Amino acid sequence: MAIYDRAIVSLLPAVPRPIVRKISDRYIAGTGIDDAVRTVSSLNGRGMLATVDVLGEEIRSADEARAIAGAYLDVLATIERERLGANVSVKLTALGLKLDRDLARELLEQVVADARDRGSFVRIDMEDSSTTDDALALYRGLREAGHENVGVVLQAYLRRTRADVEALADLRPRVRLCKGIYVEPPELAFRDDDQVRASYARTLERLLDLGCHVGIATHDEWLIRRALEQVARRRLDEDAYEFQMLLGVREERRDQLARAGHRLRVYVPFGSHWYEYSVRRLQENPSIAGYIAGDTIRRLLALR
Ligand code: FDA
Repeated sequence: MAIYDRAIVSLLPAVPRPIVRKISDRYIAGTGIDDAVRTVSSLNGRGMLATVDVLGEEIRSADEARAIAGAYLDVLATIERERLGANVSVKLTALGLKLDRDLARELLEQVVADARDRGSFVRIDMEDSSTTDDALALYRGLREAGHENVGVVLQAYLRRTRADVEALADLRPRVRLCKGIYVEPPELAFRDDDQVRASYARTLERLLDLGCHVGIATHDEWLIRRALEQVARRRLDEDAYEFQMLLGVREERRDQLARAGHRLRVYVPFGSHWYEYSVRRLQENPSIAGYIAGDTIRRLLALR
């Protein structure tokens, strides 16, 4: 990691909110649901789908968790009313996982049931490794209770992912596959880029072998090409997989994939907890600070 990356990451808590807001602006739709609707509509207009995330990982009370679940119900109603091409992504800690596991299960089930009634889908985001067992168990519980409109995320950097794929195989899960963004100890996660990539490529192949629908969530060109090779070699039709990217990242490549006929879903976070999200993301994956710093400096220079 470059020295200026480390400096930016360590200084972030001291950076005034408006500046953090500015540097993370392109990654977040805004604070209100109208902002999310505008962003999703614009993506839909360009042939892309979205998954909407209500920012709220830093909640501290059961009431806040209930409020986040309520916000998801509003989002699902809005998606239906506005006929948006979008589903939702949910973080279990935002539904209170760290406060009360039963509350998180209850709220998640509410959101999934509401999504089912509206013909929509809920993706359970994956957070740090202290939540992996709970996330997979809650996912299994929902599937065994008959909920089909729910999917999970696997992180290629975790050493356990290989075994998790096999353990989930009987459910033929809909999986978003990502590298993983949290800082994990080396006993739990590969640190080396090549190992993470190899694990990603291997996991993708295995999931496709099992007939799973895979959300190929990466901006890594090497992995995108590997995935395209798999799609071509297996002659997968467009319902069998989709590419997924974060809002504001590699937009040209994203548009190119969509134009080439691949289903492309963009992760669209919005909400009043934007600050926590921005700082956490930047701290947890310091290399992002480099992208943002570079981009900000370029933009500032362009303004001069
Ligand atoms: P990598 O980080 O190597 O990036 C590849 C290239 O993409 C970079 O070289 C750069 O050009 C560009 N790039 C990447 N990030 C950028 C940025 N912020 N700004 C500008 N350029 C950037 N993680 C997790 O732990 N749990 C989850 O549930 C999810 N969910 C999720 C959903 C979706 C749709 C995506 C795309 C990603 C996630 N992630 C996630 C995050 C994921 O684990 C990972 O941290 C990031 O996607 C970065 O990894 P890449 O595979 O993109 O490779």
